[in-house]
Amino acid sequence: MTHVEIIKAVQNDIKEYVQQGDAGHDWWHMYRVANLSEKIAQHEQGADLFVVQLAAWLHDVADWKFHDGDEDKALVIASQILNKYDVAQNVIHHVCMIIKDISFKGAGVATRMTTLEGQIVQDADRLDAIGAIGVARTFVYGGFKNRPMHIPGQKAELHQSKEAYKKSEGTVINHFYEKLLLLKDRMNTQTGQKIAQKRHNVLQSYLNQFLAEWDCVDIVEKTSDKKEHLSEI
Ligand code: ADP
Ligand code: NI
Repeated sequence: MTHVEIIKAVQNDIKEYVQQGDAGHDWWHMYRVANLSEKIAQHEQGADLFVVQLAAWLHDVADWKFHDGDEDKALVIASQILNKYDVAQNVIHHVCMIIKDISFKGAGVATRMTTLEGQIVQDADRLDAIGAIGVARTFVYGGFKNRPMHIPGQKAELHQSKEAYKKSEGTVINHFYEKLLLLKDRMNTQTGQKIAQKRHNVLQSYLNQFLAEWDCVDIVEKTSDKKEHLSEI
């Protein structure tokens, strides 16, 4: 089989595994991450595109969040799929290493990627967590877990261990502070950094608007005499 044929087969194989998550971790998330990875790889020279594509399509094949915390399940499934197509063992090993290290594990936990291929896919995965799609995915996950959107006064936690992050049951808005707003400064590649800055700005203005609406600050205008008036509605 050619590389293109193997990637097509993998795209099809993962369908039965990714349906168990929420709509933010569905087949289309893999599609977007694979697309974005390819775009980043075009700007960052020297990446093995076969490894990048395989890792992007397989990276969430069994996310621990939807598999009782089992982190190794994804590696077993990914290896099984790739072995069906006689993919070289060093490629399977590399893809599995990327899947294992890709996830965000808490504000205080470093998640270093050692290879360019891993850095590219990790950037693409994180870019899909910010911007307009990032906002949507975060609320979809909150709904899936039946979490409150926002509780004024409830503080965000900057988790210092993977275990604390995994146990966290905070609000959707707190997730912005616990993860999403931190991603811009954790990009591996220059291309990723540039895209992240734009998507970070989207997060920031969304959050400002959300919190302003929450307190009705968006409907009042301060005039020069410092009195507040309802703006024209
Ligand atoms: P990673 O891609 O680093 O493994 P996850 O799979 O944990 O990240 O999360 C992907 C997306 O799912 C997040 O960016 C967010 O949109 C949503 N999500 C994950 N955990 C939470 C949470 N505790 N609260 C709200 N949304 C979450
Ligand atoms: Ni992902």
